Amino acid sequence: MGIKIVHPMAAVAMFALAATPAISDENANLVVNDEINITVRAAAPAHMENVSEVLSGWLFRADETQQFQMDDFDNPGMIWVDKAVASWGKAEGSEGKSCASCHDDPDSMAGVKAVYPKWNETAGELRTLELQINDCRENRMGAEPWKYTGGDMVNMTALIASVSRGMPVNVAIDGPVQSTWEQGKELYYTRTGQLEMSCANCHEDNYGNMIRADHLSQGQINGFPVYRLKNAKLNSVHSRFKGCVRDTRAETYKPGSAEFIALELYVASRGNGLSVEGPSVRN
Ligand code: HEC
Ligand code: HEC
Repeated sequence: MGIKIVHPMAAVAMFALAATPAISDENANLVVNDEINITVRAAAPAHMENVSEVLSGWLFRADETQQFQMDDFDNPGMIWVDKAVASWGKAEGSEGKSCASCHDDPDSMAGVKAVYPKWNETAGELRTLELQINDCRENRMGAEPWKYTGGDMVNMTALIASVSRGMPVNVAIDGPVQSTWEQGKELYYTRTGQLEMSCANCHEDNYGNMIRADHLSQGQINGFPVYRLKNAKLNSVHSRFKGCVRDTRAETYKPGSAEFIALELYVASRGNGLSVEGPSVRN
């Protein structure tokens, strides 16, 4: 499927994209707490046709924003991770169980975030971390599911991501998930909205350029969930997708929808080789 899309000049002009010099240090390296080495640039995975190097969104942020992520004491996202640590040990639901009852401490989740979304053989479905957590809540704890992009959920995904920081993203794209991955790829390259722009038009054709006051990244999701200075909270992958689709003035899919799950699998696979970085800090 060679679906390279030509630059949509009209839309690009509307957004006043400009090749201004980078405002951040693209040669910087990220080491968290002086001990966790984060791979912020890597050779593109073999399935990517138009990009040779994949880059973390961290590289495109201003120096001050980058610094927040270098130490957990400065990373506002870690406050919510602490809240999730409390909820990890809290029994809920008809079975009187907490996450800790079955999974010991959160460190037992090391490596999990790196391979999600992941195929669940027993259920015969592709699961995002959110779907897996809600499956445990409903079917193992007898508790209410959390709202897909709600605070409790995003905090828990941040905790689970945090114990995998530094590990390479390595989502599988073949076997039972291949057709879903293809669907995600198609969504990524389909132009939508009044502006007729695809994800690729911004994050593949124009990363490194300025769009309004923003420095465009590759739109990677290895750093999710993301603490945004703009709304001062953790943001999930699907919330970000929703925002980006809206920016093209298109109708958007719902968080947790089959479309966004497919898109998440595809976008995650574009970051294979980068480190898990969440919770990261962005503007
Ligand atoms: C009663 C036991 C039980 C409880 C309580 C429980 N889980 Fe699970 N969890 C499991 C089992 C069993 C699996 C493997 C499920 C499968 O493969 O279908 C699992 C799998 C997972 C996975 C995927 C791990 C992987 O390697 O892919 C995550 C993430 C997870 N649970 C998170 C949670 C969280 C967060 C909570 C609390 C909100 C929780 N679980 C509560 C039993 C439990
Ligand atoms: C009109 C341009 C535009 C389009 C089209 C667009 N985005 Fe974005 N996107 C942005 C801007 C601007 C940002 C904020 C700066 C940055 O990180 O690139 C952003 C940020 C992101 C981020 C956060 C990256 C990080 O490291 O925090 C993700 C993920 C993302 N976009 C995914 C997508 C996906 C998936 C699509 C297609 C559904 C899409 N975007 C379409 C402009 C766009």
